Amino acid sequence: MTTIVSQIVSANEDGAIHQAVEQLIAGNLVALPTETVYGLAADALSDAAVQQIYTTKGRPVGNPLICHVASIAMADKYVVVNTIAKKLMKKYWPGPLTLVLPQRENNAIPATVSAGLQTLAVRCPASDITKSIIAELGRPIAAPSANASGKLSPTSAADVVESLGGKVPLILDGGETSIGIESTIIGIAGSNITLLRPGTITIDEISETTGLPVLDRDETQITAPGQLKSHYAPNAAVRLNATSKEPTETLIGFGEITGDFTLSASGNLAEAAQNLFALLRKADAAGTATIAVAPIPQFGIGLAINDRLKRAAAPRGL
Ligand code: TXA
Ligand code: MG
Repeated sequence: MTTIVSQIVSANEDGAIHQAVEQLIAGNLVALPTETVYGLAADALSDAAVQQIYTTKGRPVGNPLICHVASIAMADKYVVVNTIAKKLMKKYWPGPLTLVLPQRENNAIPATVSAGLQTLAVRCPASDITKSIIAELGRPIAAPSANASGKLSPTSAADVVESLGGKVPLILDGGETSIGIESTIIGIAGSNITLLRPGTITIDEISETTGLPVLDRDETQITAPGQLKSHYAPNAAVRLNATSKEPTETLIGFGEITGDFTLSASGNLAEAAQNLFALLRKADAAGTATIAVAPIPQFGIGLAINDRLKRAAAPRGL
């Protein structure tokens, strides 16, 4: 791939939104902040632009992308929004909830976005920057996390530069992301709700909003092809549920376990989620063979943190 100069522009600068929109219209990629992690965006209606996402990230072509919209009305053009989906959109959009829904027949989204599936993942991000870009573009953007495939997700513009610098013409800097881990993904088929990826919006909240149970991924036929075992892989090996550290380790603490870095000294799971990827990067930079991570409670947002940690610790190359 040819090297290009990545321009890093503060998202608050005059004209930054417009500059991003111009790039997208020209069929180029833009890295931009959402409230969860930074995304690598392309005009979702341009097959050629969307293809660039896969090549730039080194992403397997069978791993579909999330289509980011500015409103429920924009999503409704491409997917069938039933009453359950509508309820969830009204409650959590804009915000960190992605819904996998049946596509409308003959909609304008190229098959590359959904990797040929009959369903499409839609999300309305809460970041004002990204929302303004979609609104000015007037159509959705396809955007995975802005990292090389299989690596840690970026929570700052500097993380994007480290992973994809020289491959993306424009990187918008909107500071550190506030949520820090990717959106919750829910699949809806009729009245079946399936959790495809845990996030900061929990299954209890989804159940309460819909009055329906949320099934586990393994209980249904719906799968998120991108949920491969090894993902979010630092260079170092990762050891989970560590209560103390070995000499060859860097320890990431939580609550009463104080580490070289600590996710949340007070045991706050939202704070831990916000710090997760940033601290995995810092611990990795320490250069020890292994990163040890303290136990994280397996409830609420802890389920999402443990999901990411399990993949970070999984044997590589699977
Ligand atoms: O918070 C987020 O969701 C971030 C920001 C940038 O919005 N995006 C993100 O995208 O995490 P990505 O591509 O890193 O993860 C999207 C996941 C993948 O695991 C993919 O397999 C799944 O969503 N997915 C996308 N479309 C799907 C579909 N139609 N059916 C099932 N899973 C789908
Ligand atoms: Mg990702």
